[in-house]
Amino acid sequence: MTVPAVDQKAIAEAVRILDAGGLVAMPTETVYGLAADADNEEAVLNTYRAKGRPTDHPLIVHVASAEDISWWAESTPQAEALARRYWPGPLTLVLKKKPRCGLWVTGGQDTVALRCPSHPWAHALLKAFGGPKHRGLTAPSANSFGRISPSCARHVADDLGVKPSGKLDMILDGGTCEYGIESTMLNLSSGRPEILRHGVITREMLEEALGCEVPDAGKDAPRASGRLKSHYAPKTKAELLSEDALILRAKTLSDEGVRLAVLAPERLKAKLPPVADFISAPETALAYGAFLYEALHELDAAHADRILIAAPPSTPEWAAVDDRLGRATA
Ligand code: TXA
Ligand code: MG
Repeated sequence: MTVPAVDQKAIAEAVRILDAGGLVAMPTETVYGLAADADNEEAVLNTYRAKGRPTDHPLIVHVASAEDISWWAESTPQAEALARRYWPGPLTLVLKKKPRCGLWVTGGQDTVALRCPSHPWAHALLKAFGGPKHRGLTAPSANSFGRISPSCARHVADDLGVKPSGKLDMILDGGTCEYGIESTMLNLSSGRPEILRHGVITREMLEEALGCEVPDAGKDAPRASGRLKSHYAPKTKAELLSEDALILRAKTLSDEGVRLAVLAPERLKAKLPPVADFISAPETALAYGAFLYEALHELDAAHADRILIAAPPSTPEWAAVDDRLGRATA
């Protein structure tokens, strides 16, 4: 996937809009984010309005570098070690917030999520915007609440859109996102590190960097919309099935006249009845993750009555993909 060269004029225009309290969709290496000035309460509240997201769901503050951590939060040795290792990159750290970080960002909680993205456009924007005050940008995924996250600029344009007919002031088109799946989220604000959301930075990578076990967060973990059972969902009803079960289900539904869109390994195609849309599932977890939201968008666009998805392997490297598929079909 090639990232177009950073358009410095567009970045300057985006900074001007953000300075004035506007909303800008920015590409990151994970998914497109809906950026606003984290210090500007009204601008941040407008992000919630644009997404239709409840205001008690906290946002991630995106920063230009690891040096910015201590401007927003109480840093810890573990946070420093992970930032050195994986920033800029698809890892979000939840830490105790400092007073500078407004409650409008954290949904009233005393912690803040921080991330330093590696996408050259996001990086250029954060560097230009950050300045001597080390300002940051809140950026939830740039989709309507509960819907599929955007992995290219067109997804954002189709969903939220640009004013006057849409909700945003600007969309920066930095190409297709490299990973296509949201950042790994790690809670470092309680006694021991725990995973709040799986992503491309795996449990093994975190355990290796920290030299300790990193379990999943328990049920009483901080509120996070990505932890809702139903999330990242297509409009069409979708089912997640083992390969054998999918073949049987496809036959039954097809006999009933139900129009199907299917996401499954290529080898299943010959075993299925005719379907409205068949998307061949990538074979590695990384490739599947990068393609997942694009595939869900396409399956939705097929205007079938039902989407059937073959469950991927249940080995550790598939944790993030497995998690998103579970929520998309819940
Ligand atoms: O890859 C990403 O992280 C993307 C790109 C744009 O950076 N952003 C993203 O943001 O996925 P969002 O808002 O769609 O998801 C962030 C998740 C939400 O589930 C939110 O509730 C949770 O992180 N979150 C944010 N701050 C938190 C905090 N202080 N404690 C616990 N969870 C938090
Ligand atoms: Mg989201």
